[in-house]
Amino acid sequence: MKKRIQLAFDISWTEIETNWRNPGSWVDRHHPNIGMFEEVARVAERGGLDLIFLGDSTGIPDTWKDSIDDAVSYGVAWPRFDMSPWIVAMSRVTRHLGFGLTYSSSFMHPFYTARLLNSMDHITNGRMAFNVITSARRSDFANYGYDGLPDHGERYDRLEEFIDVCRALWNSVEADAFLWDKASGRVADPAKVHPINHEGKFFKVKGPLSVVPSPQGSPVIIQAGGSPRGIRGAAHVADHVFGRTKTLPLMAKQRRDLDDALLAEGRDPLEVGILWSLRAIVGETGKQANALREALISDVPMEAVGAWLSHNSGYDMSRLPPRFSLAELQERIVAAQASPVGFVNLLAHKYGEHAEIDREEFFRHGLEAATGYATAFTGTAAQIADRLEEMFEATGSRGGFMVKQSQAGPREIMLNIVDHLVPELQRRGRYRKSYEGKTLRENLAV
Ligand SMILES: Cc1cc2nc3c(=O)[nH]c(=O)nc-3n(C[C@H](O)[C@H](O)[C@H](O)COP(=O)(O)O)c2cc1C
Repeated sequence: MKKRIQLAFDISWTEIETNWRNPGSWVDRHHPNIGMFEEVARVAERGGLDLIFLGDSTGIPDTWKDSIDDAVSYGVAWPRFDMSPWIVAMSRVTRHLGFGLTYSSSFMHPFYTARLLNSMDHITNGRMAFNVITSARRSDFANYGYDGLPDHGERYDRLEEFIDVCRALWNSVEADAFLWDKASGRVADPAKVHPINHEGKFFKVKGPLSVVPSPQGSPVIIQAGGSPRGIRGAAHVADHVFGRTKTLPLMAKQRRDLDDALLAEGRDPLEVGILWSLRAIVGETGKQANALREALISDVPMEAVGAWLSHNSGYDMSRLPPRFSLAELQERIVAAQASPVGFVNLLAHKYGEHAEIDREEFFRHGLEAATGYATAFTGTAAQIADRLEEMFEATGSRGGFMVKQSQAGPREIMLNIVDHLVPELQRRGRYRKSYEGKTLRENLAV
C-alpha cells in the first residue's frame, strides 16, 4: 500500500507579506479578524488537513539600517500575535483539525508552557501540537533582556532541557490519578501525583503540574532545527520535524542525518516524519499558476527584502558592497550566532562556496526567498502532486508537507489546494478520505 502524505497549512505572518493589497487577500484594514481565522480553519478541515501551523516571533526586524522603519512600513514579520487564544477560537468551529502553536524555548518557562498546552489540549480535545523553537533573531532576544544572541549550541542545550522538563511535568500526574469519588470525597490519589524535582543548567522546577492529564497526555512535539546541532536537538525532543525545502539531495541528506541522530537517541526513525515547508500554487493550467506567482513577487519593495534578510541573518545587508564573496558573508552570519544553514548558505551551495556575487543578483534571489516563492511549486494539481510524490519518496516516505498559506495571499491559493490538489492526491491513494484518528497524534502517525 502507498504511504499517505500528510498536509498542513502554515498561516504564520512570517515573511514578506506585501501581498495584502492584492484582490482576494484574507487580510484588510480590520486585521486581525477572528472571522478570518475561523474561515481558514473550516477550509482546512474541509480539505482533511492534518493541522494549521502558527509560527511565532516577537521582535520587529531592526537589523537592516539599524532601524525598524522599513519593517514597520511594509509589514515585514509583523504584526504578530500570541496565537494561543486564536487557536482556541478556531478549535470551536472544527472537530478534527490539529493546531501547531509555537513558543520559544529561548524565552518562555517550561512550567508555564506545559500548563498552557495542557489546557489547550483539553479544550481542543487532543488536537494540539507544540512547535518548540530556538529563537535566532536579535530583535526577539532584545525583548527578553539580552543584548545579543546566545551561542547557537547553547540555545539547543536549553531547548532540550526545556522539553525534558515539560515531558516530566506532563507525566507528573498519572492518567488515572483523579477519582472524583463522591462517597469518600477524594478528588485524586496522592500516590499517583509526583513532584519532578528538576534541577538543571537552565531550569529549577519542583512540580507536579497542577492539572488533570489531557487527552493526548502531551501535545505532539514539533521541532525545526536544520543545522547539525539542530538535527540532534530535534532527535532528542521531536515527535515530528519541520524541514526547510532545499534541493532534493540536501533534503535526502537531512533525512539521513535525522535518522542517524534518532538511532543515536535509541529511537525508531520509522516513527518520525518530516513535514517539508513549501509554497504551492495550483492553477487550472501551468501558465495560470505561473502568472499568479509572478504577480505575487512583483512590486515588492527592496527595503522589505533587505529588512527580512537582515533580520534572519543578523547582518545588515544595506552595507553590502556592489560585489562580494558569499563565503565571507556566511562567516559573518555564523559569527553573529544566526543559523548557519539559512539563505546565504543555500546560495553558496548553489553558486559554489568561493563564488562572488553582485549585490543586485543577491537581492533578486533574496526577493524569492523573502517572499517564500524561491522554492514554490507552481502548476496543475497533477504536476504538483508528481513533485510532492517524488520529494516524499526521496526523503523516506514519512511525513509530508507544510504548505505556506499567507494570510496576505489570495484566498484562491488555499482553496485550490483543498479543491484540486487534495482530490488529486486522494485519487493516487496518497491522501486519506476522512480523518481516521481521534487525536492529532493518531492522525499524524506515519
Ligand atoms: C519550517 C520552519 C519553521 C520555523 N518556525 C519558526 C518560527 O515560527 N519562529 C522562529 O523564531 N523560528 C522558526 N524557525 C527557526 C528555527 O526554530 C531555528 O531557529 C532555525 O531553523 C535555526 O536553527 P538551525 O540553525 O538548527 O537551523 C523555523 C524553522 C523552520 C525550518
